[in-house]
Amino acid sequence: MLLLFLTTVGALLFGLAVGQSTFKPTRPPSIPLAVKSPYLSTWLRAGKNGGNGGYLPGQWPTFWTGQYIGWTGLLRVDGKAFAWMGAPLDMGAPLDLEYANQVAVEYTSTRSIFTIEVDQKIQLKVTFLSPITPEDFKRQSLIFSYLQVEASSLDGQVHNVELYTDISAEWASGDINAEAAWDYDVFEDVAFHKVWRRGQMPFAEFNDHAEWGNIYYTADSASGLTHQSGIDTEVRGSFIDDGKLENLHDPRFRRISQDWPVFAYAIKLGLVGREPVSTLFSIGLCQESAIQFLGEGDQRILPSLWKHYFSDGWEAAAFFHKDYSEAQQFATDLDNKIIKDSINAAGQDYLTLTSLATRQAFGAVQLVGTEDRPYLFLKEISSNGNTQTIDVIYPASPIFYYLNPELIRLLLRPHFENQESGHYPNKWAIHDLGTHYPNATGHEDGEDEHMPLEECGNNLIMILAYVQRTGNKDYIKQHYPMLKQWVEYLVEESLYPDHQWSTDDFAGKLTNQTNLALKGIIGLEAMSHISTLADESADAANFTAIAHDYINKWMDLGINHADNPPHSILNYGNWSTYGLLYNLYNDALVQTRLVPQKVYDMQSAFYPTVRGTYGVPLDTRNRYTKSDWAIFAAAVANKDTRTMFIKDIARWVGETPSSRPFTDLYMVEGGDQPDGIDFKARPVMGGMFALLALQEGYRD
Ligand SMILES: *[C@@H]1O[C@H](CO)[C@@H](O)[C@H](O)[C@H]1NC(C)=O
Ligand SMILES: *[C@@H]1O[C@H](CO)[C@@H](O)[C@H](O)[C@H]1NC(C)=O
Ligand SMILES: *[C@@H]1O[C@H](CO)[C@@H](O)[C@H](O)[C@H]1NC(C)=O
Ligand SMILES: *[C@@H]1O[C@H](CO)[C@@H](O)[C@H](O)[C@H]1NC(C)=O
Repeated sequence: MLLLFLTTVGALLFGLAVGQSTFKPTRPPSIPLAVKSPYLSTWLRAGKNGGNGGYLPGQWPTFWTGQYIGWTGLLRVDGKAFAWMGAPLDMGAPLDLEYANQVAVEYTSTRSIFTIEVDQKIQLKVTFLSPITPEDFKRQSLIFSYLQVEASSLDGQVHNVELYTDISAEWASGDINAEAAWDYDVFEDVAFHKVWRRGQMPFAEFNDHAEWGNIYYTADSASGLTHQSGIDTEVRGSFIDDGKLENLHDPRFRRISQDWPVFAYAIKLGLVGREPVSTLFSIGLCQESAIQFLGEGDQRILPSLWKHYFSDGWEAAAFFHKDYSEAQQFATDLDNKIIKDSINAAGQDYLTLTSLATRQAFGAVQLVGTEDRPYLFLKEISSNGNTQTIDVIYPASPIFYYLNPELIRLLLRPHFENQESGHYPNKWAIHDLGTHYPNATGHEDGEDEHMPLEECGNNLIMILAYVQRTGNKDYIKQHYPMLKQWVEYLVEESLYPDHQWSTDDFAGKLTNQTNLALKGIIGLEAMSHISTLADESADAANFTAIAHDYINKWMDLGINHADNPPHSILNYGNWSTYGLLYNLYNDALVQTRLVPQKVYDMQSAFYPTVRGTYGVPLDTRNRYTKSDWAIFAAAVANKDTRTMFIKDIARWVGETPSSRPFTDLYMVEGGDQPDGIDFKARPVMGGMFALLALQEGYRD
């Protein structure tokens, strides 16, 4: 939307101090609004770089990429109009409107709550709730999010209040020159605006948005509701003038940016006193087909899982809208669980991180398939659009172990299907299932981004961790031949890793990487445990013997014992180097106890000696760090060092100039993102739960 103009106004607003808001627990770089799947991911930029400091009135929300998404909130108090969401004054036409004054923001794992004062007369509590129900797949499958607005009197007087909200067609496509179409109806007492891209393009993206499916914006069709679609300034103008809409619909389907069509509701709240009056809206995306998949047999189309439970989008949207009280209860339970466990594990700083990461991690995945055969698909998001990347699932995995380990099985299921049916020619584990989401069509030519040691190690470790937490031994029996194929690679390569990438591919390839070798060696020991669980005792004895031999050698190859204090090195023979030895975490995650305690103690003592302003650098090649790996390192450090890691990242969250959704890669000095590597909104932040994945316990 009017990009240049907006940037200038945004900068002005930031400079002009738009009132004073508090931020609890801190002001994050970007605040999640409706964050539910790779294609429903709407945020409010809050950092200085590109954002207005986290104020809902006066700035447009954005997609995770930073592209604007029109979402507007207005209010009339005793006939005078104010904006509480979005930047409708930036649209060129004069409107008799002022911005309301935001006084507080709070975020939890599932909610972002804004407190906004309007003319010192009315207080609005605006709650964005993106539900997460890790064990309830019917609810989790719905790609929807709530917006609840509560109005109450601030000054003790009773005021006449009318509420308004609209969305633009930017929700339906990433291309503002694409044509949009729309519809309006009422179904089971729920009012709907439905908006879609004309000329649907199944499985295609534009600027990372989905170019297919329908957007639903819903409200209670109670008395006092009026609605309208039409030119943005005209529809908003109707409300500003009359406090209601005309129940008219714009018959002229057109380009998203041509006279900006908007889809609006207005509600007469009537006389509002101290007692809060509450109104609910829901926004969602319904795609009947979700993923193109090459698994068993020929390539096929997987439906969205919600299709299993609902016959169409209207029905799904109506269920979601009416489910708010249940959804609130689920959300409160989840928030409370994460609050309690995070505080117990490592205090408020840790909760600042876990609660910011929750919607982001779940916002990169979506449930597809049918109830008897569901899959969880994941988009790598900003690093590139790869589908189902193993070394992105792996850093994200702690949140899934913590909230429902079955989700790990659903993430790995398409990998097993693809590789067990012979669609991948290499002997090692594949890196991803498709170059671009939502296409999971594999790499039949074997030309994926090879990270053989990384991915073989990741898979064996994730699978053992899953079985330990669920007792599902059949799973490993069923996949045993594939697991043995992967472990072969570890036998050959884990002690002296070839010139190759680790997951940190942006830092380049390197030979004999200490941390990568450690992953492979722990993977070997993990396979020994897997063999035991599969009653393959000869294999178990073989793999544990090799793992122990390798770890003894690794203790000399990978550690500078002579330095003061001693520490692991980046790669063998490169004695002056160091790096985060984050793969040590695996030894604790799957309880292999392969690595001597003195390595844990040594690293704990070493990290504080190389600490920068916002943390310990990833390794000696660069001055950036990777916060998911820092938390993995923290999870197996002693208390003081663990506290140090967590404190530095939590401080970074509140101080970074970045306005992008929670990045995992930033400079340890200054806290900005490194030039040219624009990581943001990635699911890897599920790794913030590394401490809690360890504490969950296991049985075998
Ligand atoms: C997915 O594949 C289809 C062809 O089947 C193609 O049209 C589409 O652009 C691809 N999507 C992406 C995001 O690359
Ligand atoms: C141990 O495993 C490796 C890799 O699978 C295999 O090459 C070797 O023959 C095995 N040794 C024994 C004694 O089973
Ligand atoms: C890897 O490390 C081993 C042991 O230090 C060494 O013999 C080998 O030459 C190294 N490989 C390369 C390619 O540098
Ligand atoms: C040694 O480590 C440095 C980073 O500290 C790296 O740039 C360099 O490539 C490494 N040298 C070798 C021979 O691997």
